Amino acid sequence: MDSKVLTEVRDTTRIERVSAHSHIRGLGLSDELEPRETSQGMVGQKKARRGAGVMLQMAKTGRIAGRAVLIAGQPGTGKTAIAMGMAQSLGKDTPFTAMGASEIFSHDMSKTEALTQAFRKSIGVRIKEEAEILEGEVVEIEVERPATGSGQKIGKLTIKTTDMETVYDLGQKMIEQITKEKIIAGDVVSIDKASGRVSKLGRSFTRARDFDASSGSVRFVQCPEGELEKRKEVVHTVTLHEIDVINSRAQGYLALFSGDTGEITSEVRNQINKKVAEWREQGKADIIPGVLFIDEVHMLDIECFSFLNRALEDEMAPIMVMATNRGVTRIRGTDYKTAHGLPTDLLDRLIIIRTEPYTEDELRLILKTRCEEEDVNMEDMALNVLTKIANDSSLRYAIQLITPAALHAKRKKSKQVSVEDVRKCYGLFMDEKRSTEYLKEYEEHFLYGEVSDRTAKMEI
Ligand SMILES: Nc1ncnc2c1ncn2[C@@H]1O[C@H](COP(=O)(O)OP(=O)(O)O)[C@@H](O)[C@H]1O
Ligand SMILES: [Mg+2]
Repeated sequence: MDSKVLTEVRDTTRIERVSAHSHIRGLGLSDELEPRETSQGMVGQKKARRGAGVMLQMAKTGRIAGRAVLIAGQPGTGKTAIAMGMAQSLGKDTPFTAMGASEIFSHDMSKTEALTQAFRKSIGVRIKEEAEILEGEVVEIEVERPATGSGQKIGKLTIKTTDMETVYDLGQKMIEQITKEKIIAGDVVSIDKASGRVSKLGRSFTRARDFDASSGSVRFVQCPEGELEKRKEVVHTVTLHEIDVINSRAQGYLALFSGDTGEITSEVRNQINKKVAEWREQGKADIIPGVLFIDEVHMLDIECFSFLNRALEDEMAPIMVMATNRGVTRIRGTDYKTAHGLPTDLLDRLIIIRTEPYTEDELRLILKTRCEEEDVNMEDMALNVLTKIANDSSLRYAIQLITPAALHAKRKKSKQVSVEDVRKCYGLFMDEKRSTEYLKEYEEHFLYGEVSDRTAKMEI
């Protein structure tokens, strides 16, 4: 398997759903994992943030996998926000996958396949490779242009270390690279022999005098010692899912771009697992358990839960973080009611992180952060009104009002959003509470209207 190809497709799976949480830049914890009052866009909810930070620390050290965390609390108490904060504070080498539980019902694949893919997207494989490189100071570059003016260019490159000097033939591709990187005599370069990639490490100290000191940004390095040809270790991280897709012959790596990966056979996965196990034994690869986040987890059904139970036992399982706003409710696919709608054997494995309702001060700070994020200048009084709305109806509704209120202010060519702008939008767009009252009042005017028994309707 050529792992060079793998590195090039690395970035395609890191798509995060952030827009409502784009102000969140981390968990806002100190190095000792103490939550700061407000930091990285996070406000309050300190216990939950600290709990999430401790779990992350476990994920980062990579040795403790297969744990499951449940973030439980009322709607709008920052459960999803905390998960997004976790994603942001993981290093770029630790995979993080976020999904809504109901997504797995909309895939054109079985539920267990969708979950398996989610698991394998959350497990990183750090592959170590030895690469052969040339490292030395450029003595001379000669390029011969063909007499006809067109056709292949050829050339010669002379490079040296403090101990030796060698002349290499250059092909068309290498000449292009050297021109692109603007390599000239006196540069210290590194050339990957397999791919032919040239990178400039800096200018040789011996050429320091040739340079105008004011030109600033030049980095001077020593001319390398010893052999010109060296072996170096290169490390890159891919997810198990990426390896699966690239090696499933029916799909090929292009499927990673379209997202249309279809089902992957268990033969392919078994082979990959075997190969990865081999690499681990030979010291060529390490497993990095990442984080799998499943939001609104009560939407999963009993089959999914039993799959999760088993998957968590796997040697390579990631840390699973789930979120729910349900109290005692029915487990989907059964007639049983349990805490959070999760089966008791799964509940048994969980560490539960609670989110608490916000105080008015905290709500105000969150709204203020959101205004800054959306580049909205809001009067103090208007922010107070918005805070009251957040307290009386919901934080999310109050956040939703920021943009329309700002548009309203802009139309009046006013630079600041006033109480009036907020009030206008409050009148224009209903929140859930007022909308329900309205429906009750005019029930008989709606087709099939029947809202008096709301709780029964909410059952899934
Ligand atoms: N502690 C917090 N600090 C900053 N923003 C927050 C905080 N808690 C919630 N929010 C923001 O409030 C909104 C609602 O929170 P959300 O995380 O969606 O709630 P939940 O998932 O618990 O229903 C989101 O835009 C979220 O980013
Ligand atoms: Mg949520």
